[in-house]
Amino acid sequence: MEEIKINRDIAHLAVLQRIELIDPGLKIVRKLLGRYLFSNFFSKYLINVSQISNKYSNLMKSEFENLERFFKTGQNILSIGSGIGGFEFMIYKRIKKTKINFIEKNYVSKKVKYGWDNFNKEAYNSLILLEKFLIDNGVDKKSYNIFDADKDNLPKERFDIIVSLYSLDYHYDFNIYLKYFKDVFSDNTILIFDTIRAEYFEKIFKEINIIKEDNETMHKSKRIACKFLIR
Ligand SMILES: C[S@@+](CC[C@H](N)C(=O)[O-])C[C@H]1O[C@@H](n2cnc3c(N)ncnc32)[C@H](O)[C@@H]1O
Repeated sequence: MEEIKINRDIAHLAVLQRIELIDPGLKIVRKLLGRYLFSNFFSKYLINVSQISNKYSNLMKSEFENLERFFKTGQNILSIGSGIGGFEFMIYKRIKKTKINFIEKNYVSKKVKYGWDNFNKEAYNSLILLEKFLIDNGVDKKSYNIFDADKDNLPKERFDIIVSLYSLDYHYDFNIYLKYFKDVFSDNTILIFDTIRAEYFEKIFKEINIIKEDNETMHKSKRIACKFLIR
């Protein structure tokens, strides 16, 4: 099974992206000492990198196993809000000849807030570290492209699968990407994402399937697979 290599800088991003990776003790430190110190110091220097690496690796394996049936050889994939890219690494390792396009933000908020953000200003990534993660873990440079979500050069091509785990419509409004989706959706495109309002999408897609329900996470979200964007 694939092991993931990460250094402290990347582990720091992973714990900001996936708060379930940190120990309960550090969660208490966050409550007591505040978001600024947590985001910039404790979440980087008070973590055990190899423990985070193992936990992150297992988490991404289980995410991949949950969605494995959607991925096939040779697909053109778009990932929105991949974080450091562990899930996409699993796709790369398990499915042959895929091309993966990443759209991510290129900064870390000073005081990371978890929850819905109307202005979509919250971000927890670095495109340099995302690329470092891919290279360090042996992903071939020819098999991916990385795009900055805040720049005006998003890839305009048809995608077989668009995936956004705990990002699109979990932290920020789906409609930010609606116009863009109209350019990159074909009749076969499948969009998979986690949302807190699955019913809302009945007016946007002709076909919606619920893949899993999360009642334990802070937002009580559903993961849905959508097809046939209504134009
Ligand atoms: C909660 S993390 C989830 C990361 C990863 N998908 C995972 O499951 O571990 C949400 C990610 O969405 C990114 N993000 C926030 N706004 C975004 C936007 N408009 N477009 C793309 N990514 C965005 C953040 O930087 C962050 O890495």
